[in-house]
Amino acid sequence: MSSRTVIRGGLVVTASDEIHADVLIEDGRVAALAATGTPAAEAFSAERVIDASGKYVIPGGVDGHTHMEMPFGGTYAADTFETGTRAAAWGGTTTIVDFAIQSVGHSLREGLDAWHAKAEGNCAIDYGFHMIVSDVNQETLKEMDLLVEEGVTSFKQFMAYPGVFYSDDGQILRAMQRAAENGGLIMMHAENGIAIDVLVEQALARGETDPRFHGEVRKALLEAEATHRAVRLAQVAGAPLYVVHVSATEAVAELTRARDEGLPVFGETCPQYLFLSTDNLAEPGFEGAKYVCSTPLRPREHQAALWRGLRTNDLQVVSTDHCPFCFSGQKELGRGDFSKIPNGMPGVENRMDLLHQAVVDGHISRRRWIEIACAGPARMFGLYPKKGTIAPGADADIVVYDPHAEQVLSAETHHMNVDYSAYEGRRVTGRVETVLSRGEPVVTEREYTGRKGHGVYTPRATCQYLN
Ligand code: URP
Ligand code: ZN
Ligand code: ZN
Ligand code: ZN
Repeated sequence: MSSRTVIRGGLVVTASDEIHADVLIEDGRVAALAATGTPAAEAFSAERVIDASGKYVIPGGVDGHTHMEMPFGGTYAADTFETGTRAAAWGGTTTIVDFAIQSVGHSLREGLDAWHAKAEGNCAIDYGFHMIVSDVNQETLKEMDLLVEEGVTSFKQFMAYPGVFYSDDGQILRAMQRAAENGGLIMMHAENGIAIDVLVEQALARGETDPRFHGEVRKALLEAEATHRAVRLAQVAGAPLYVVHVSATEAVAELTRARDEGLPVFGETCPQYLFLSTDNLAEPGFEGAKYVCSTPLRPREHQAALWRGLRTNDLQVVSTDHCPFCFSGQKELGRGDFSKIPNGMPGVENRMDLLHQAVVDGHISRRRWIEIACAGPARMFGLYPKKGTIAPGADADIVVYDPHAEQVLSAETHHMNVDYSAYEGRRVTGRVETVLSRGEPVVTEREYTGRKGHGVYTPRATCQYLN
């Protein structure tokens, strides 16, 4: 039995077009679009009709960087796959790509299986996995090939966090060489962790223990240096490179230079770097701990380079790096020693709205909003056009977005399982109204109508930015 939905009268915005069109959905996929008011559109008939007049009809968001239930610093990110994907849906995101973790001494397979077990049957929206590679050896390299074949087509490595996730340059080069052969994409956490650890030790010895010192020791130059090194290692290996959570002007400059040289180098930034700054890290009374993440928040002046990079396509993706730790009991682990504050911030629910605010503020166009939040990440991680656009054959992951509604972001009203909002009190224009995931209403006129287990694992093709 087929089930049909029609979304009528909205402005359909994709990364490439803006058209007043009705959208016909059949069996979870987009079946057809037709200009509103034309006989073709009038002929669409369906059991469910959604009125989108005065609203945008946009692809569901694709958040290519989340960490549900991630172990870090002796604790776990506070959102489970259940709570985190529900919050994502509330915020208009219909796909996440989360990071499975290989621990040192174990195989990629063990890590991936463990993450499948956490997610399966628990998600409100569809999900895929990247793989964090913490232990590069011959077995790991062979396993990378198998993972690419089964749809885990990207691998994160860390130049930071010595003793935890850290890889040295030789390990990085080997993994990049393998990726060059098997089509995988290396995602890099580009910070010089060895140098940072020295600065951390020296800062603590001087009694500099407050959260703001997290920002001071993790210097922009050490992000830029690592970015440069990652770019050149990838060049030597003949591999594409995707740099995650870019926050510093100097790091954007490295990416820009590499791209001007024609290298297949890509970059992501996150809302926290676009909207927050070291002013937040310096908030008194340990409040700054709420904003501890790595790379760290930067002085406000860096934001202009990030916005510019997003406009010029030197940065292609905005994802959240959603990795929430409660202030109470988790962030507090680092009272008296900023290096013990678990790294990460909440945001999976806020990304689509904050980026719409960027449209309102004139930083980016409406179509660029959809590019960096939906189509871009879908292409980067091999999910396009199943995800990231509204076109015949695509999954009907669709958001009806009210561009005029006003809202105030707050922990009182958000759905993430964390006791603070990084954007507490911020007024934004625009709000998610209705969300469909493969044609099923997950949010219906600001009511949650989704269910745990609706979301399914989604294997991915290799990076489509390269074709
Ligand atoms: O501070 C952050 N970003 N925590 C999550 C782990 C990572 O490095 O992405
Ligand atoms: Zn093992
Ligand atoms: Zn990272
Ligand atoms: Zn991350």
